[in-house]
Amino acid sequence: IDELLTEGVAGKRVFVRADLNVPLDGGTITDDGRIRAVLPTVKALADAGAKVVVASHLGRPKGAPDPAFSLAPAAARMGELLGTGVAFATDTVGDSARSTVAGLADGQVAVIENLRFNAGETAKDDAERGAFADRLAELADVYVGDGFGAVHRRHASVFDLPARLPHAAGHLIATEVGVLKKLTEDVKRPYVVALGGSKVSDKLAVIDQLLGKADRLLIGGGMVFTFLKAKGYEVGASLLQEDQIPVVQEYIERAEKNGVELVLPVDVVTSTEFPDLKTKAPGHPHTVAADAIPADQLGLDIGPETRKLYASKLADAATVFWNGPMGVFEHPDYAEGTRALAQALLDSPAFTVVGGGDSAAAVRLLGFDENAFGHISTGGGASLEYLEGKALPGLAALED
Ligand code: 3PG
Repeated sequence: IDELLTEGVAGKRVFVRADLNVPLDGGTITDDGRIRAVLPTVKALADAGAKVVVASHLGRPKGAPDPAFSLAPAAARMGELLGTGVAFATDTVGDSARSTVAGLADGQVAVIENLRFNAGETAKDDAERGAFADRLAELADVYVGDGFGAVHRRHASVFDLPARLPHAAGHLIATEVGVLKKLTEDVKRPYVVALGGSKVSDKLAVIDQLLGKADRLLIGGGMVFTFLKAKGYEVGASLLQEDQIPVVQEYIERAEKNGVELVLPVDVVTSTEFPDLKTKAPGHPHTVAADAIPADQLGLDIGPETRKLYASKLADAATVFWNGPMGVFEHPDYAEGTRALAQALLDSPAFTVVGGGDSAAAVRLLGFDENAFGHISTGGGASLEYLEGKALPGLAALED
């Protein structure tokens, strides 16, 4: 983007593909981190006199307009944060988008409606995606890719549109890639990775890679129960991906062979029911040994001994990557594992990277100062796929 700014963008329509896929509770944004993350790019372009057209997806609507997934709240928040307001187009490539963009003065910003309201955005068929990209291209003279959270998607606005316009990477993508490079090229050791989240199937590819790269892997979140079961323990009514047990068993063996310390909880916080996240009514938490979860209990967080153990495993780290909460952090009874992990990251002298929408939101919702971490990535799937070593369509499209 620096080159682009030097060449000059005054009077040009610049399409900024952002990731404004923020968590919403009704129409209220519960974490605006992704909106704030793209502001440096939007501001730099607006200050340089560009007509800035910001676009993004939000959630997974089914290729047609759906008010529950409108970008209007995100647009309003961006307007507040910029202090100038933004124009909002109620469609993506229709009359509203065209007239909104045509009405922009130099230095003004517009947000267009959710790209996924058009089936062409996510279409598998190249021609269908291309046709949508052609229509998006009519809205702009230049393309800036800055939606790091979506660069792993081969979608029209991420992959096909940059091929149709002069293009550049924005500040956020440049920062994110710079940080993730530190985790893949010449990483400072000990390199400790903490992985949580509910499904082990989402993390298999990254664990596979990390078994050859990390020195230590700390496992938490719902996926831990598939590991405990793979070790032969009973996990009661906890979340379990039975079909993944053989893969996990192979990982446990490979970790041992490769000298990677694979650390599992020694105790867990359980209850007989999943907590009510809306009312936050008190749950009925118990702490039990990880190898003796009673049949009627489901695991909802890592226990106090595990928190201490994981903190000790982070204390001498030089590099840490953390993706995925350790428990159901949205409920106060099951937030302590995630809180303790975040605190251990802060206490460690390591370069710390927090990746993933959920862990980033957890850090902020639990009241931590996000600036105290080395880097909080805006990408969940994107940062994992980067670490897996996959070619990411949204980065490849900007490289030439
Ligand atoms: C994310 O939240 O990880 C990104 O915004 C991508 O969203 P998606 O998984 O719906 O493509």
